[in-house]
Amino acid sequence: MKILRSPNAVRAWRNTWPIQTRIGFVPTMGALHAGHLSLVRRARRENQVVVASVFVNPTQFGPHEDFARYPRPWANDRQLLEAAGVDAVFLPTPAAMYTPAHATSVVVKGLTNTLCGAPTSRGPQHFVGVATVVTKLLNIVSPTRAYFGMKDFQQLRVIEQMTADLNMAARIVRVPTLRERDGLAMSSRNTYLSVADRAQAPRLYLALQSGRKLLRSRPFMSPRAIRKNVASILTAHPPFRIDYVELVDPVTLQPLAKTRTPALLAAAVVLGRTRLIDNIYISK
Ligand code: PAJ
Repeated sequence: MKILRSPNAVRAWRNTWPIQTRIGFVPTMGALHAGHLSLVRRARRENQVVVASVFVNPTQFGPHEDFARYPRPWANDRQLLEAAGVDAVFLPTPAAMYTPAHATSVVVKGLTNTLCGAPTSRGPQHFVGVATVVTKLLNIVSPTRAYFGMKDFQQLRVIEQMTADLNMAARIVRVPTLRERDGLAMSSRNTYLSVADRAQAPRLYLALQSGRKLLRSRPFMSPRAIRKNVASILTAHPPFRIDYVELVDPVTLQPLAKTRTPALLAAAVVLGRTRLIDNIYISK
């Protein structure tokens, strides 16, 4: 497995492959878990060459977020990627990605003012950071397909919209959320949870499942009543702090005025110092 530390090193390596080679790309921030590896497996199945990136992107973290303490277990990540059959890893330093003169950012309107982009949540700036770094990564790697998890559904939609609007060549592939046995969506941030909070965390998915069940059994129930049911489970003892619970259109991510399918039921909560997000896609 090649370790490439600069954009130029990636380009040079990329140019050693014939133009028509199918290249799959899995961008990550490291601290890899089975969810990341399911993206790699999918990329491995669908392409001849697989590239991953490991870069904790500073521009997508707010000033009070966890950039400094975000886990960076590179030796372990490297073993996992090698074992999963990745051909090359792009491992840039922040300085290699952002020179002091860096002046350009990518703004995806509409999709970024709801859910995690709401001013009461992480705010739209988070997705400016994501869209900008993913644009840079796609330009550097120039893959045939790039793989993103549905766990971060809003991020996935932002990237789908951006690649379509800007005529980017990569095909964006959606990969379903991988969960622990108790239902908790796998996340690098789960390692922050105390033993007591980890025991409570599956209630986030249970609450969303309850919301989906209500929507299926009582299709005329209002979005507000469904959200209230989900929220009541989240605030049961011991209560989670709710960032949001929303029932949205899965394309525009805007709140549904009337209950219908397809829909996305999404929530963000804070347990101790850890923010957790999850969602359920409710098909037609
Ligand atoms: P990161 O949180 O490391 O996630 C990398 C990819 O793994 C994302 O596409 C994410 O949706 C996916 N993923 C995470 N947990 C998953 C799970 N339980 N099941 C399936 N897929 C899962 O998302 C980022 O990094 C960054 O924002 C990035 C896109 C790399 C840009 O910096």
